[in-house]
Amino acid sequence: MHASSQAPVRERLPPAPVPPERDLPVWRALAVMTRNPIAGWPRRVYEDRLVVRRLLGRTMVLVNEPALVRRVLADNERDFVRPVASKRMLRPGTGNGVLLAEGADWRRQRRILAPAFTPRHIASLVPHFVAGAGRLMARLDACAGGRVNLSAALQEAALDIAARSMFSLSLDDRAGPMAALLTRYQKKVGRFTLWDLLARRESDFGLFLRARADFHRQWFGEVDRLVALHGGDRTGSRPPDVLDLLQAARDPETGEALRAGEIRDQVATLLGAGFETTARALFWTCHLLALYPDIQERLAVEIATRLGGRAPDAAALEDLALLRATFFEALRLYPPAALVTRQTVRPVELDGHHVPVGAFVTAAPWAMHRHRAYWDDPLAFRPERFVGREREIVQSGWYMPFGSGPRVCLGAAFATSEALVVLARLIASHRIVLADDRPVVPVVMITTMPSIEPWFRLEPRADRPPGW
Ligand code: HEM
Repeated sequence: MHASSQAPVRERLPPAPVPPERDLPVWRALAVMTRNPIAGWPRRVYEDRLVVRRLLGRTMVLVNEPALVRRVLADNERDFVRPVASKRMLRPGTGNGVLLAEGADWRRQRRILAPAFTPRHIASLVPHFVAGAGRLMARLDACAGGRVNLSAALQEAALDIAARSMFSLSLDDRAGPMAALLTRYQKKVGRFTLWDLLARRESDFGLFLRARADFHRQWFGEVDRLVALHGGDRTGSRPPDVLDLLQAARDPETGEALRAGEIRDQVATLLGAGFETTARALFWTCHLLALYPDIQERLAVEIATRLGGRAPDAAALEDLALLRATFFEALRLYPPAALVTRQTVRPVELDGHHVPVGAFVTAAPWAMHRHRAYWDDPLAFRPERFVGREREIVQSGWYMPFGSGPRVCLGAAFATSEALVVLARLIASHRIVLADDRPVVPVVMITTMPSIEPWFRLEPRADRPPGW
């Protein structure tokens, strides 16, 4: 096994870029920024409260302290907005859905969607997660003993689960191509470029946006096909889903319904924001478990003892203390949304620094989660740190895999429940083993992706339960 892909179990130091001692020279910093921004971050990023740098005439600020993070993410509309660069990268996949909406339009969209993401509603979706985990296992069982691309399988599963549970839509054989389409987008045309850094408006440097427009047509073509299928399901036998909520929503002031275009933007947003991030979180958790089999074995015992071979409901998920801790620790070390960035719309003071208009201000889960001031042994994989302290750490302000402030992730509870169900099902029946010597390092594109999709082997457990 390659040294950087399998650290000694005793230390449990999973792979990550090693920070340079000092700031990189401008030309190298720019090159790294477009390939994998976290790889160029110097040591001070993991030690200081605030880091400022100027690149190509732009001020870049990284805030590493909870009060500063709150200032940036909670004061969103007055001083800070989503950067033009992020909109250029995300809009082809999400249209004008809730992720990129602003002001009164955002408030209206978030109000309409909120009932679909309450704890009670998420609890009612657990059977969908169980069914999705079962389909994933059936697929993986077909290649038992052989090598599997777990990254791709988890992506398809997460997309399929998102479509079924939120929209009562069955993707069947479309899940693979749709997941591959989004992955290609992130790796190629959707990647951050210097044109994104320089653009003042979303439409600037239009020549470089054509490939993104092509992707937009393809992705929205897929979404339209799905929404049309949902329209055909009028049997009344299924419980209401998010799409029903959207179709029934009325503006409290005008009584108007959402237009068809607004509904498809929301579907595209929730599918895109929901599946890719969750799939990445599942991948990194599985990768860590393959690197550190002792934790995996302890999890298998917990799952067998607590669930006794039965499928979990929402209450049972609360009871899986070590599994929850492992998932939260994986989100700490490999936050799928590694950077939460805003742009100033007027000059602001941050911790005594004057920050001009147009500056990029980032609250980075990647940096906060590895910061020396907040964590013992920050680079080590130690799920135990979350056991019995989940609530305290989640409220600390320095653990923020789902963002923070009014625009905190709408799907945090959804993603957590889904991931716990899939992991419990997988670990109960199989050992996850790496079957690849190549190093796997995190690369931050839109989400935190693995540098390669490594091969895994799934070894059936002798005492595997019959299946949920
Ligand atoms: C492990 C999985 C996930 C992670 C790490 C994650 C992370 C995040 C983060 C960091 C933000 C804040 C972005 C910002 O402020 O700029 C966000 C926003 C959002 N997330 Fe998630 N997310 C995950 C899963 C999901 C799921 C499953 C859904 C939907 C079912 C979802 C829907 C959204 C939406 C709609 C927003 C925008 C909220 C708004 O602007 O009001 N996410 N997510």
